[in-house]
Amino acid sequence: MMDLALKLNNTSDIPLHQQLYNELRQAILSGRLQCTQRMPSSRTLAKALAISRTTVLLSYEQLISEGYLRTVPASGTFVACELPDQLLQSPVLQPVASTPQSPIELSSYGATLATVELPELPDPGIVIHFDHCGKPALDEFPIHVWKRLFSRACSLGANMLDYPFDPLGYKPLREAISRYLLQSRAVQCNPDQVIVVSGSQQALDLLARLLLNRGDRIAVEDPGYVEARHVFQAQGAEVVSVPVDEAGIVIEVLSTSAPPVKLVYVTPSHQYPTAVVLSLARRLALLAWAQESGAMILEDDYDSEFRYDERPIPALQGLTVSNSVIYIGTFSKVLFPSLRIGYIVVPQQLAPVLGRAKWLSDRQSPLLEQRALADFINEGHLESHVRRMRMLYAQRRQTLAQAINQQLGNQATIMGDNAGLNMMVQFHTHLSDEEITDRAIQRGVQMHSIQRDCIKADSRGKFLLGYASLTPEKIEEGVSRLAKVFH
Ligand SMILES: Cc1ncc(COP(=O)(O)O)c(C=O)c1O
Repeated sequence: MMDLALKLNNTSDIPLHQQLYNELRQAILSGRLQCTQRMPSSRTLAKALAISRTTVLLSYEQLISEGYLRTVPASGTFVACELPDQLLQSPVLQPVASTPQSPIELSSYGATLATVELPELPDPGIVIHFDHCGKPALDEFPIHVWKRLFSRACSLGANMLDYPFDPLGYKPLREAISRYLLQSRAVQCNPDQVIVVSGSQQALDLLARLLLNRGDRIAVEDPGYVEARHVFQAQGAEVVSVPVDEAGIVIEVLSTSAPPVKLVYVTPSHQYPTAVVLSLARRLALLAWAQESGAMILEDDYDSEFRYDERPIPALQGLTVSNSVIYIGTFSKVLFPSLRIGYIVVPQQLAPVLGRAKWLSDRQSPLLEQRALADFINEGHLESHVRRMRMLYAQRRQTLAQAINQQLGNQATIMGDNAGLNMMVQFHTHLSDEEITDRAIQRGVQMHSIQRDCIKADSRGKFLLGYASLTPEKIEEGVSRLAKVFH
């Protein structure tokens, strides 16, 4: 044993018993200590290494509990023959190089996914990212508060590591969300109509699976949110394009659609990507149409907290007592996207089946995060963060609008309402969208053309500029680089 040259460092931050454990484990794995070899007594080893006996006992205990050593009563401690590391390793299978790979047959759902474009990795040459359209100012998020609340959630005991029993999500969070929605969006619901999901994207996916059969018709705004359209198409639904004008989705086109649609997906508070707000008259007309036709409305209220000059118009959900609206919200914009927490507010009768859909999909959204988020809302941090971000984004938006007006003049028109984390701009130019994009990239600026968001709508010259995550300096620099694209 003394030949093993165990290296211990008294000045290291790693406790001595942990160092000894590491050294002995390595010796066992490398074969320097061999199967069935008897270990020295703790007293002998402690003496040889000039350390305390407790230190040796602690490292032996860990090695025994992990299966590297075993004790034989009245005989001693021995190196185990079946090491845990070997049990964990699976044999490496050598691929047979010449075997032709037969195609794997996909379901029709799988085959539809082949056409879905994923976001590209950011190009390292890009200096100004106007293409991060929905990205909040993440460096402004009060991470120290989150850290405190998350660590509090972690200290609540082992139950926090288990599945919660409620398939709709952590009840105190659902209560906090229903209070918040009533106050900020006039959404009328009780906590048992709220289901916590992994962002709006999962909300769309679960709802599409619950409500759409192959061949069912769903109306979408055109231009509209392409990631929602992909979900409906993958479900085998027929997507019906409905134009959007300066007051939002055009209801007459919707109501004359034949055969009738079963669902309509809308972003009324801040239409994506045109940024128009659905007028109150149109909201009432949409609700009246839904009630008359029996269609359901999926209301995606993804960034309604950010309106800069007027009070938000109440959500569609709160304007009706009927069962026709399903409301979807997310914390991706108000807090941070990697949180992956959103929610659905459904008519009471849908809650049990939606809970089952969530359970079969991924059981639950992470409980520690749900608990930290409930505290974040209940202690007022959400409200104060939204208030602060509203001011910050309003300034950034103003900086962008001013820079565009000064540097691009009549070569660009700002579209839509004074809201959200991005701005739609119409460029007046003979250049094609590809030429604009390429020239901008050459100048280190990336923008999002709304081409992918359009079905029949004319996307020419229309780009979405995300500003919320950019400092005023970056915004100004970005626009002056852009101006050169058109000169
Ligand atoms: C229209 C719309 N809905 C929802 C979302 C948010 O999705 P998630 O909650 O899955 O992050 C976005 C994100 O960009 C969006 O643009």
